[in-house]
Amino acid sequence: MSQPTSPYRIAPTLNTGGKSHNYLGSFIVLVFAFFSMGMMSRDTQETTTLPLVRADSTSEVLYPEGYRQWIRVKTAIIGPQSKAFKRFGGIHHIYANAKAMEGYKTGQFADGSTIVFDVLEALEQQGTIEEGQRRFVDVMVKDTKRFADTGGWGYEEFNGNSATERNIKTLASAECYQCHKKQESAGFVFSKYQH
Ligand code: HEC
Repeated sequence: MSQPTSPYRIAPTLNTGGKSHNYLGSFIVLVFAFFSMGMMSRDTQETTTLPLVRADSTSEVLYPEGYRQWIRVKTAIIGPQSKAFKRFGGIHHIYANAKAMEGYKTGQFADGSTIVFDVLEALEQQGTIEEGQRRFVDVMVKDTKRFADTGGWGYEEFNGNSATERNIKTLASAECYQCHKKQESAGFVFSKYQH
């Protein structure tokens, strides 16, 4: 199950749940199961044929400086068993600024709401899963007027730890929107905040 060509080495024995790590194994398997359920349907909609839309300078999504001081909404691990592994695999944390936190509570995201999807490699060693290198940082910024075409949210992906290297050349905001619009009834946001 280990993937020599991939940057991830995620718990090769997770499913067998070694005795001393049973609780961790079961937890992770649950997380995987949850994700494969959610992600599978989305994966059937491959979006590679969508036009690559580069936002013009006035509607550029800025790097979310200081997001690690925001509220952490949740954390999950996407492992090799998930169809979403190649694109989103690893450990991810979701962070929200104060306005977005209001949105998580009320279901209405006001302009200025910003949410960050922070993806790091997941490195397993003897039953412990640690964060590895940062893969990318996905950002959603709510601005009803500027991003009217994509449900009021601007989308961007920053590569690795870079605040300037945008993955927009290969990943259109259209790719993000196509998937997130399935959550239109929840304000285009997938995650839930657990109180
Ligand atoms: C194939 C579907 C899919 C695509 C494509 C996608 N996302 Fe997401 N995104 C998700 C799912 C599912 C979650 C929730 C993950 C969780 O709950 O742990 C999510 C979560 C997020 C979040 C946290 C807020 C939320 O909705 O929970 C942000 C920010 C985000 N994505 C940005 C982006 C950006 C930017 C892109 C494009 C570069 C993108 N996403 C592409 C499925 C997708």
